[in-house]
Amino acid sequence: MTELRKHAVFEQGVKCFHLDAEHSWCMCTIASVEGEGPKAKYSVVSSAAADSEADSMAIVVSADQLAPFEDEWLKDVNDLLEMTTLHDSLLLEQIRRRYWEDVVYTNIGPILLALNPFNYKLPLYTDGRMQLYIAEQANALYGGSALPPTHWSVAHEAYWMMLKEGIPQSVLVSGESGAGKTEGAKIVLKYLSKVSTYYAPPEQKAQASFITDKIERASPILEAFGNARTLRNNNSSRFGKFMKLQFNEQGYLHGAHTINYL
Ligand SMILES: Nc1ncnc2c1ncn2[C@@H]1O[C@H](COP(=O)(O)OP(=O)(O)O)[C@@H](O)[C@H]1O
Ligand SMILES: [Mg+2]
Repeated sequence: MTELRKHAVFEQGVKCFHLDAEHSWCMCTIASVEGEGPKAKYSVVSSAAADSEADSMAIVVSADQLAPFEDEWLKDVNDLLEMTTLHDSLLLEQIRRRYWEDVVYTNIGPILLALNPFNYKLPLYTDGRMQLYIAEQANALYGGSALPPTHWSVAHEAYWMMLKEGIPQSVLVSGESGAGKTEGAKIVLKYLSKVSTYYAPPEQKAQASFITDKIERASPILEAFGNARTLRNNNSSRFGKFMKLQFNEQGYLHGAHTINYL
């Protein structure tokens, strides 16, 4: 990108990014340019303007607060590693555009980048779609899934890797407070219980849902004692939770431990 920036042409009418103090990199159009070289000042009309009144005034920036943009650098991808041109501005705009389309999950290779949608009814992630993921079975491994990334994809991969390789798997959830870690972990848990017994005889199915029911029902009790309202999260866990699920040789969920730490 340094190279691209060196050769970028920032002149009147050009669509590019500018660095906004509040919204980071935002799309903008250059309205006018004053001066030349490193001292040049660019007056830009920003896409951040719609968000706040203050921004609707003309924004004047210097060249080091501009980054170039080409339509072809921002093709919609499910995995950020497929982007051919990388810069903070492009990565941010990519996930921002997806977010506005209600697509809140994006892969970065094997990592799932999750934005908190604060909405349990987004069409792509309603429980009815779970079985599409389950049906992919081992075909989803090694990047073979044809479905959009979600928490379910991570759970699915962990489950099938465990079955295929016979090695315990871990799912690490990390992020700032209010990012959706606790809720995300619940979604992973729910999927693991579903996927592991989808084709199981009714008895094993009942056993698995008995275990996940217990974990799910323990949640409000643990949260009643261990959570608090904070500025960032109305239901912020004040303790860490290490959840261990046990599967038998057929891959059916048959036990679980929860250990609190921190
Ligand atoms: N996947 C999700 N879908 C819808 N709302 C969510 C989701 N994840 C989190 N939320 C909302 O955000 C709030 C904070 O999420 P939480 O998982 O408690 O954050 P964290 O554990 O990262 O601090 C939840 O109480 C819920 O309202
Ligand atoms: Mg939490």
